[in-house]
Amino acid sequence: MKKVITYGTYDLFHQGHLNLLKRAKELGDYLIVGVTTDNFDLGRGKLNVCNNVIERIEAIKQTGLADQIIIEEYIGQKIDDILKYNVDIFAIGSDWEGKFDYLKEYCEVVYLPRTEGISSTTLREKQRDIIRIGIIGTGNIAKRFVNEAKFITNVRIHTAYNPNLEDCKSFCNELKITEVSSSLSELVSKVDAIYIASPPLTHYFYTKYAIESGKHVLCETPFVLSEKEAIELYDLANNKNLRLMMALKTAFYPAFNHLISLLKSDIIGDIVSVDASITTLTDEKSPKLDFEQAGGSMNENACFSLLPIFKLLGVNYVDINFYSRFKNNVDIYTKCIIRYPQSIASFQVGLGVKSEGSMVIAGTKGYIYIPAPWWKTEFFEARYEDLNKNRKYFYPYEGEGLRYEIKEFVSCIMNPNKISFKLTKEEVLSIIRVQELFIKDSKSIYRI
Ligand code: CTP
Repeated sequence: MKKVITYGTYDLFHQGHLNLLKRAKELGDYLIVGVTTDNFDLGRGKLNVCNNVIERIEAIKQTGLADQIIIEEYIGQKIDDILKYNVDIFAIGSDWEGKFDYLKEYCEVVYLPRTEGISSTTLREKQRDIIRIGIIGTGNIAKRFVNEAKFITNVRIHTAYNPNLEDCKSFCNELKITEVSSSLSELVSKVDAIYIASPPLTHYFYTKYAIESGKHVLCETPFVLSEKEAIELYDLANNKNLRLMMALKTAFYPAFNHLISLLKSDIIGDIVSVDASITTLTDEKSPKLDFEQAGGSMNENACFSLLPIFKLLGVNYVDINFYSRFKNNVDIYTKCIIRYPQSIASFQVGLGVKSEGSMVIAGTKGYIYIPAPWWKTEFFEARYEDLNKNRKYFYPYEGEGLRYEIKEFVSCIMNPNKISFKLTKEEVLSIIRVQELFIKDSKSIYRI
C-alpha cells in the first residue's frame, strides 16, 4: 500500500484545496492529511485564519478523500509523521516548490500543480471589511506598529497625525502611508479606529477626542494616570458601542495566554506567590525619567508586572506598599509588595536600576520560571520537587510581537459581541488604581 501525506491550514476550504487533495490521493492508495492547530498557526505568525481547527478538519472530512486526518502542532513534526506512519510520498502544492526537499531523505517529495486564482488569503480579504487605522504620535513604537499591522489581513494603516507636521510627513513617507493628516479632525474623518502612541500626558485628551468622534481606540501604555479618567473614557466608549483597549502587548502573546490557562488548570496547585520584575537602564534625558511628563518606573513599567499578578491572584488585595528610590522627583526604582488573604505578590520596576527580569510563580505543587525578559513571553518552565516531572513550554512570537494586540483589537471591532478576556476593563482599572495610588498617596511609599 502506497501512503501519501500532505499538510495545510485549509482555512475557508476552497476549490484549490479540493483539487490538491484529489491530486495527492491519486498518487497512492492511502491519504493522510495534516491540519495545523490554531496554536501552531498563531505561533508561526499566521494570525488571520478564520475557521478553527475543528471546522477545518470537518471540511476535509466532508471531501471523503482523506483516509486519516492528523493535526500538525510543532515545527519538525513532518519528519516524525513520515517515519511514524511509514509514508511513501510527501505531496504539497507547487507554491512550496523546493521548500520541502529536505524530506527527500525520508520519502519521495512531490510538488503538485497549484490551482491558479484562488487562495484562503484572497477569500479572507473579500469576506471581511478593511479596518482603517489612523495613528496619533509618530515615534519608534508607532513605526513598529505600522510594520506589525502588515501581518493582519484586514487592517490598513491609513493615515497619521503629529502636531509637528514635518515629523508626520517624514514618518508617512518612510512607512509608505499615503495620507498625512494635518489636523486631528482630518485624521478622525478618514478612519475607523485610532492607535494612540503619543506622550502619556496627551492620552486622555486624544482618547476622548477619538471616542467622541465615533472611533475605536487602542492606546499605548501608560494609558491614563487616573482611574476617574479611565472610567469616564470606558463609559464614553461603551455608550457609543466603541472598543477601547490598552496596548499592553504582553497580555496578547500566545505564550502568556497559554501560561495563564495552564496555571488556571492547576498545574502547580494553589498559587501562593508571584514575583515579576521589569527593569531597564534608561537615558537620564529620556522623557520616561521626566517628572513633568509623568515619567518614572511605576508609570512606565508597573502595568507589565501587575498584569500577571492581577490575572492570577485577582484584584482584591489586602494592602500594597512601595519601596522607592527617587531622583529628580521620579522613582528610578520601586519594589512593590502586594498582600492578599492567602498569597503575596511582589515586583521591581526600574528605569535607573538594573535587576534580573524574570518571573517566578510559586504554587503548592511546584513553580513556574520564566526567564528574562518574561514580559516578552516565549518560553516558560514548570518545575517540581521531582525533577523528572519538569516541563518546558515554547511558544515563540513573531516579529516585534505587536501583531497579537492588533489582531485582538481588530477582532473585537469586527465582532461587537465578543468579550475579550485577554485584558479586561477591571484589570486595566486596577492597574491604573495602583499607579495612581503611587502618585497620590505618599503614606504607602517608603523611600530608600
Ligand atoms: N493549494 C493549492 N491551490 C491553491 C491554494 C492552495 O493547491 N489555490 C494547496 C497548497 O499548496 C497546500 C494546500 O493547498 O498544499 C493547503 O494550502 P493552504 O496554505 O492551507 O491554502 P492557501 O489557500 O494557500 O492559504 P493561504 O492563502 O492562507 O496561504
